[in-house]
Amino acid sequence: MTGSRTGWGSPAEFPQSRPRRLRRTAGLRRLAAETTLAPADLVLPLFVKEGIAAPQPVASMPGVVQHTPDSLRKAAYDAVEAGVGGLILFGVPAAKDARGSGADDPDGVVQVALRDLSDELGSGPNSPTVLMSDCCLDEYTDHGHCGLLTPAGEVDNDATLERYAAAAVAQAAAGSEVIAPSGMMDGQVAAIRGALDQAGFPQVAILAYSAKYASAFYGPFRDAAECAPAFGDRAAYQQDPANSTEALREVRLDLAEGADAVMVKPAMAYLDVVRRVADEVDVPVAAYQVSGEYAMVEAAAANGWVDRERIILETLLSIRRAGAGTVLTYWATEVSRRLH
Ligand code: PBG
Repeated sequence: MTGSRTGWGSPAEFPQSRPRRLRRTAGLRRLAAETTLAPADLVLPLFVKEGIAAPQPVASMPGVVQHTPDSLRKAAYDAVEAGVGGLILFGVPAAKDARGSGADDPDGVVQVALRDLSDELGSGPNSPTVLMSDCCLDEYTDHGHCGLLTPAGEVDNDATLERYAAAAVAQAAAGSEVIAPSGMMDGQVAAIRGALDQAGFPQVAILAYSAKYASAFYGPFRDAAECAPAFGDRAAYQQDPANSTEALREVRLDLAEGADAVMVKPAMAYLDVVRRVADEVDVPVAAYQVSGEYAMVEAAAANGWVDRERIILETLLSIRRAGAGTVLTYWATEVSRRLH
């Protein structure tokens, strides 16, 4: 062989070295696969709406609905049967106010749903899945922001922390095993950890949405959760898409405040961030394949422009390959069934 040596990699070159040998058969490809995808890696987000008689389709997310208590139970059973690793609940209350009262009301929509699902599915060491809850105010405030507002219309970081703490305690009391704070207030993990411990829930875990970007990919979710901000946007609290080093700082702070696991969100446009975070931490890393990622694939597939089944698996595999152990995805049940 005359080819020049690059100094790294295999010393042998073509024709001795033939990477295609390991791609010849499905069996070889399976053995050589560096990344796997399993139902246990997937978490299904579910929306439950107060005061509706039948499930309401979400127009921008074909296949996703706002659930009634009954349809929620059915969706949860389906997910459990498919082996989905966890469920994360989002609530759409019938009434909203400035302080987001529904977020910590023991009879609030998510608390009722959590109690119902933990009764139905069973909780504790033998529970067949993990019940999780998004902890934020935007679904509950009439202005649609993730926190309390100052008279000038800014989101008041420190005043909001007490609201998150109360919401987290209400969720834990209702049966949530993992609280997932998504509001991007500074100090939110510490406030929630302290409140959970004080209220007698030291065993309840925190999955922090540590690196959550101010993203247009959340558009369809805001229909599903009816939480588009009434004015302005979330750029003053969510992260700037231009940054990735800042994500590491957010992650470090959340871990110091007591986060048990961290999340990057959205997923596909931020796979570099997923990789950097995964390389940096020794806790589980999750990534959220958000509503806009789902909607883009469904829309293209509905037009016949992409192979829906293949592209879904490819997106999920890419997120796992980037370093996320857990993926939150609206396709969790469907994909889990297919993986069987
Ligand atoms: C906030 C929250 C949002 C999402 C999850 N939690 C919306 C936002 O920040 O505007 C988005 C999820 C998705 O787009 O699928 N409670």
